[in-house]
Amino acid sequence: MASKRGLLLVIGVAVAIVLASGAPPVQPPRIQADVVVMGFVPCNNGTSMRTGSAPGFAGPRAVVQLQCTDGADLAANATTDGKGRFRMAVNTTVAPSSVASYCDLVVDTPLASCNPALPATGMLQSDLRLLVSMVFFPRGFSYVSAPSTD
Ligand SMILES: *[C@@H]1O[C@H](CO)[C@@H](O)[C@H](O)[C@H]1NC(C)=O
Ligand SMILES: *[C@@H]1O[C@H](CO)[C@@H](O)[C@H](O)[C@H]1NC(C)=O
Ligand SMILES: *[C@@H]1O[C@H](CO)[C@@H](O)[C@H](O)[C@H]1NC(C)=O
Repeated sequence: MASKRGLLLVIGVAVAIVLASGAPPVQPPRIQADVVVMGFVPCNNGTSMRTGSAPGFAGPRAVVQLQCTDGADLAANATTDGKGRFRMAVNTTVAPSSVASYCDLVVDTPLASCNPALPATGMLQSDLRLLVSMVFFPRGFSYVSAPSTD
């Protein structure tokens, strides 16, 4: 019994020493974090199109623009990979909830460039959906025939 108590005491003292010597300040600074937006651009002029609902934007690559209003000071561009997929990462201190509220995705590369049967004007637009932590997906691209003026 006595030796067991002694051993526990030694372990306790050792843990205390480690905690006292090695512990860094726990308060993290407010750092810039990567907001990641990734997803799929369809080659179609439908509404709320989801991955798999249309072929990917192939051919000349589509430029995907992250556009935000005054509530979030953020902008980024990405180019699709030839199968319609894209990924962008941008450092920001903007909170994820603000990114979802104030930002959307716009593709104004003409749909006619991936399919000549589709319109040569207009654009695709999607709201953002928070997937996990700082990772966002397009909610679903919709074809907008005239550029919005907001
Ligand atoms: C994204 O691309 C558009 C159109 O080419 C350009 O006007 C804009 O400045 C670009 N934004 C960024 C953050 O590179
Ligand atoms: C964001 O900042 C971190 C730390 O400075 C850096 O490692 C990372 O590459 C940056 N990411 C982008 C997309 O600039
Ligand atoms: C999609 O494009 C086709 C071909 O240009 C057109 O006939 C159709 O009306 C378009 N649909 C929408 C929703 O704009």
